Amino acid sequence: MYNQDTFLDAATVESVVAQTVDELTPRNVFHFNSPRQAVVGEGSILTIGKLLRQQRVKHVFAVVDKTVHELGLLSSTLRCLKRANIDCTVFSGVEREPTTEVVEQALAMLTRCDADFVLGFGGGSAMDAAKAVAVMKSCNCSVDELTDPGFEGRRSLGLGAVPTTAGTGSEVTDISVILHIDERRKFVAKLPDLMPDLAIIDPGLMLGLPPLITAATGIDALTHAIESYVSASANPLTRALATSAITGIHNELPTAVGSGGCMPARLGMAVAAYKAGLAFCNAGLGLVHAIAHQVGAQYGIPHGVANGILLPYVMEFNALVCRSQFAAIAQAMGVARESMNEREQCDASIAAVRQLLRDIGLPESLSDYGARLDDFSELANEALQDICVESNPRNVTKADVMQLLERATS
Ligand SMILES: NC(=O)c1ccc[n+]([C@@H]2O[C@H](COP(=O)([O-])OP(=O)(O)OC[C@H]3O[C@@H](n4cnc5c(N)ncnc54)[C@H](O)[C@@H]3O)[C@@H](O)[C@H]2O)c1
Ligand SMILES: [Fe+2]
Repeated sequence: MYNQDTFLDAATVESVVAQTVDELTPRNVFHFNSPRQAVVGEGSILTIGKLLRQQRVKHVFAVVDKTVHELGLLSSTLRCLKRANIDCTVFSGVEREPTTEVVEQALAMLTRCDADFVLGFGGGSAMDAAKAVAVMKSCNCSVDELTDPGFEGRRSLGLGAVPTTAGTGSEVTDISVILHIDERRKFVAKLPDLMPDLAIIDPGLMLGLPPLITAATGIDALTHAIESYVSASANPLTRALATSAITGIHNELPTAVGSGGCMPARLGMAVAAYKAGLAFCNAGLGLVHAIAHQVGAQYGIPHGVANGILLPYVMEFNALVCRSQFAAIAQAMGVARESMNEREQCDASIAAVRQLLRDIGLPESLSDYGARLDDFSELANEALQDICVESNPRNVTKADVMQLLERATS
């Protein structure tokens, strides 16, 4: 039986709560950033008119990959927007990875039209260019200002992203990667307002993606999942997303590469890339991306190919401090047997990544792209300044990066 007298009076409760709360130290707190809305599935692109009309959008500025536009992949979107009485201006000047020049051209066109919503449509290159111009137009700033780590500009225009590759996850990240051609460097802008408001992920737009691009972009997604899983900033939610993405990619990527018209495999890859995108934008990446950004810019290596060449070597390097995580990755890939100890499972995960890369026919050495030992000192210096190195689980020195570059060139 409770006695009324055993309860504390309100003033005492308030004072105890205040003291307790004041003495709490935030620990293991994590934030999770994602688009307000993501629409996923076969034919989901056909909802775009209705979705944007609900948001009272009047004029869309679509930043589209040139090839994607030529292939006619934007036409259903244009029809849906027209039916919804929404105007659309198309910039289709994104060819390969977005340079400062291309972003500035798109910005000039956006400034001339009266759009209230920017839509990135294509691979990571088109989506990143769209995300950059939406913030730059809102803040009236340059690419240099946008990519300055201290930049805090806010976006006033609406922003949507439609991926046509299953790789970067840019449709659900607060990141935009811009190539400075003169400096042969990639700059990574990370800003809350680079996160799209809306992502539409339709595997039907990916059915015609050629095998080599399917392979390279799929390995980019796998690298996001593996690096975010072992990241020093991982949290339970990002680890769950990353594990599930690893399973999905290991199961579906070979079919997507070898039988591109297979809708279930394309859907599996699109969802896996989406999960991996959410995982890495909230947990960070690691040394594979820190080095890949530099060699990609220096030698013109496609982003996913550069990641694929480096991934097994960086996994071997990081294994020293994350054996149990790599064992869990082997389990997610279905290559861990009960008879194996943790070290054997860890090794099995690296062997399975190597096998997958071979199966899907990606290049295995930086020497295929003309990498030269003479460049490695400078590349290592730049890799150590890349934002991605901060969340790598193992401490890294310049000598370590140079050794990894040499191994990946042999
Ligand atoms: N913002 C992020 O979070 C993030 C994450 C990782 C990488 N990135 C950046 O994204 C860029 C790479 O993006 P990507 O790997 O998607 O490649 P991409 O956008 O450069 O596209 C690769 C090629 O595929 C073609 N293509 C795209 N979709 C197609 C389709 N459906 N059918 C036929 N061809 C198609 C393009 O024309 C292009 O030639 C790099 O600049 C990279 O640094 C950004
Ligand atoms: Fe990537």
